Amino acid sequence: METDKPILLSGIKPTGVPHIGNYFGAIKQLVEFQTVGSHQSYIMVADYHALNFVQNAGDMRDLTRELVLTYMASGLNPEKVVLFKQSDVPAHTELAWIFDTITTMPYLMRAHAFKDGEAKNKEVSVGTFNYPMLMAADILLYNTAKVPVGHDQKQHIEFARDTAEKFNRTFGETFTLPEEFIVPEVAVVPGLDGQKMSKSYNNTIPLFSSRTDIEELVMSIVTDSGSDRPENVYAIHKLLKTEHELESLYTEHTGKYKALKEALIEDLDAFIAPLRERYHELASDPRTVLDVLEKGGQLARERANVKMEEVRRAVGVS
Ligand code: TYM
Repeated sequence: METDKPILLSGIKPTGVPHIGNYFGAIKQLVEFQTVGSHQSYIMVADYHALNFVQNAGDMRDLTRELVLTYMASGLNPEKVVLFKQSDVPAHTELAWIFDTITTMPYLMRAHAFKDGEAKNKEVSVGTFNYPMLMAADILLYNTAKVPVGHDQKQHIEFARDTAEKFNRTFGETFTLPEEFIVPEVAVVPGLDGQKMSKSYNNTIPLFSSRTDIEELVMSIVTDSGSDRPENVYAIHKLLKTEHELESLYTEHTGKYKALKEALIEDLDAFIAPLRERYHELASDPRTVLDVLEKGGQLARERANVKMEEVRRAVGVS
């Protein structure tokens, strides 16, 4: 695996069934970078981040496995990218601790997830409060240049950049400053109700939905009868077809919401069917995921350990 290319890193939390928002907002770009070959990619299952939400060992193992299969069924090739699990690289949590010591509580109180929790009167866990520091460690450990994500992760990458600068100022030039890579058209993929597609809003279209599920989900898309074009249907349709292609379809079926939903069902199924098939093919061999994670974990650890040694020397604990 080449190591002289600039580094790209991204991750997903194994907290539920991956949906088309994850795919169009992030995974698709990762596959495109792999095809172009401009970067060495580190693609992560963020299981320690997920531990804030999933606190059952069996569920964590199943969701982790499903996420690895999702990455692979979507086109990521473990021969070309390093596909690994965060918890297989202890340097992530070690570096997060070091970052904690140079970060103030008022700074972390600006994080969206913390503020949302406070606004809803939730008791925010230390893990959730600290989430941005673990994510900064994920990114900075690999000298990452580019982080492809959806818009909801933008602040986390700003935090990673701030943390790199602060560490460099305090202990000497150590970390590369990362940049987010967000594609504006898919920065916020909408869900069935027009809000951001999100597991926590219960408005998702799972990436490997069956034909029957697709039919049910599309028929449940919230439509506003006041206009000619069902905007929530159109917004999802736009992920699959160009505006030019959709123009004739939506003009021909002005006001006919059912026909437009039926067209969306066909297009979604045509997009999802090959992914679904590939997912089941990969899932049929129980060794696949284990082998991929073993190899990816080793490669990620090797690279992370070199950086971690540099960090230990910089702070004086080596
Ligand atoms: P997570 O697991 O919530 O989401 C994974 C990726 O999917 C994107 N995404 C979306 N993009 C557009 N529209 C949507 N509706 C939508 N929903 C989700 C997210 O922006 C993300 O890119 N903290 C991260 C995981 C993480 C990470 C990292 C990412 C941990 N360490 C290091 C990058 C680098 C998260 O919770 O993503």
